Amino acid sequence: MELRSSHWFAGAGSRESWPHRSFMNKAGYPPDELHGKPIVGICNSWSELTPCNLHLRSLAQSVKNGIIEAGGLPVEFPTISLGETLMRPTTMFYRNLMSMDVEESIRGNPIDGVVLLSGCDKTTPAQLMGAASVDLPALMVTGGPMLNATFRGEQVGSGTDLWRYTDEVKAGRMSAEEFEDLELAMTRSTGHCMSMGTASTMASLAEALGMTLPANAAIPAVDSRRYAFAQRSGRRIVEMIREDLRPSKILTREAFENAIRVNVAIGGSTNAVVHLLALAGRAGVELELDDFDRLGRGIPRLVNLKPSGQYLMEEFFNAGGVPAVMAELGDLLHRGALTATGKSAGENVATAKSHDPDVIAPLTKPVKADASIAVLRGNLAPGGAVIKPSAASPGLLRSRGRAVVFESIEDYQNRIDDPDLDVDASCVLVLKGTGPAGYPGMPEVGNFPLPRKMILAGVTDMVRISDARMSGTAYGTCVLHVAPEAAVGGPLALVRNGDPIELDVPGRRLQLDVPESELAVRRAGWSALPDVAGGYSRLYRHHVMQADRGVDFDFLVGTRGSTLTR
Ligand code: FES
Repeated sequence: MELRSSHWFAGAGSRESWPHRSFMNKAGYPPDELHGKPIVGICNSWSELTPCNLHLRSLAQSVKNGIIEAGGLPVEFPTISLGETLMRPTTMFYRNLMSMDVEESIRGNPIDGVVLLSGCDKTTPAQLMGAASVDLPALMVTGGPMLNATFRGEQVGSGTDLWRYTDEVKAGRMSAEEFEDLELAMTRSTGHCMSMGTASTMASLAEALGMTLPANAAIPAVDSRRYAFAQRSGRRIVEMIREDLRPSKILTREAFENAIRVNVAIGGSTNAVVHLLALAGRAGVELELDDFDRLGRGIPRLVNLKPSGQYLMEEFFNAGGVPAVMAELGDLLHRGALTATGKSAGENVATAKSHDPDVIAPLTKPVKADASIAVLRGNLAPGGAVIKPSAASPGLLRSRGRAVVFESIEDYQNRIDDPDLDVDASCVLVLKGTGPAGYPGMPEVGNFPLPRKMILAGVTDMVRISDARMSGTAYGTCVLHVAPEAAVGGPLALVRNGDPIELDVPGRRLQLDVPESELAVRRAGWSALPDVAGGYSRLYRHHVMQADRGVDFDFLVGTRGSTLTR
């Protein structure tokens, strides 16, 4: 087979190829190493500003060992990385930028295939999106979750318990010093968040899609088996190049349907909705927001992990991880879907089973019978909105209340704890200006904390509605991803204090009970955001699509292939 990289390195004495070989010589590669062998890029999202991915350079070494063993030549390269907890305004603002970096770095360089090293929330979808748009053989290895955490004898999950304890501090029931102890206990090793938050979710879905070798998602970051797994992945990518096994053969409609159902079974993050929609767009697969509801309905939650359940990723790993979940789901999945192993999803998990029914329950006795993400529609969300009923309070899933409106995150921060805020437990809290264009970057503030006076009164949950996302580690009766968002003139922009809002999750409805004539008057008075002066922010604002389209840029949709004409 003719290798793509030979277009750079083949041809002894050729004017075109000698600079390529000569300058690679700086890395110590003799000329004969550079042609005839598959050259495998290792796309590394390591960064000291992405603490969850801090160990990816040592993991890359294991990938390299595997590539060399299989007769390939590894070349590691960096891209921008996205540290969830540090980047502002939010990492989601940069997901598409990272995907562009990944796409162009793969296409523009002399590589025949790529191993994608990701971990923290957005690094996984960004790499998958970029790789799908190039469509060279690609295999993902995620960094794995950090070790479980214990605080005061209680197991605590990343994010999930921080949200809870934040409310305790707010209520004066926990001191700042105690909270600092919790902070330190929470992050005691490298790796990504160890609840079923967005990072664990996206690692699991990369596996369910067939873009990793089986068992990738749950192996702890510091477990020696993660390194052995990385080495095996290095070997496998060389074979994938020889087999010409590209993302377009793996990322089919069937693969996405599997991922949607696995996401329900693991109790995965609502963020998976925007990431899978964006990835499907890159792969040229027709996937719509309503598919998440339609395909997920009736699928049970099998995995008992925080934030919806009890355990953390170490228990998930010991119980059998994603292969055990896929084996349990059986014929609810497309078992014939091709995966990175070259085998079908069904073949991959033929011998897998749950080793702990408390953590991965059998299909016959699930943790929750119907755990689908619900897609809501109505005059408040004509483009749709999502809610995770399994993380919500059952008593609020069908409710009606008057709106308490915050026009922006700053307005919310300034007034939420005002003792004079006109609010009671039956109210619906509405937060605007937190969508893809408005914030910008659709931050994870959709589970915004309740007013202090409600917490002090013992209220633990209220209906919250926003155009934001919610951390995968979070919980609450939070209606998210309202589309179109307020900042582009969606109906959310028109809500005013006191408006009655009806939430009916079983009926999939989200309704603003204000006459259309009144809404027309408010719409006429609405004014758009001022334009952005320049730079990436301008590109972002002008091209970002709404949540129901995955928040991708309109010009990035589709596969552009790996061919270079010059
Ligand atoms: Fe990186 Fe949670 S902050 S995965």
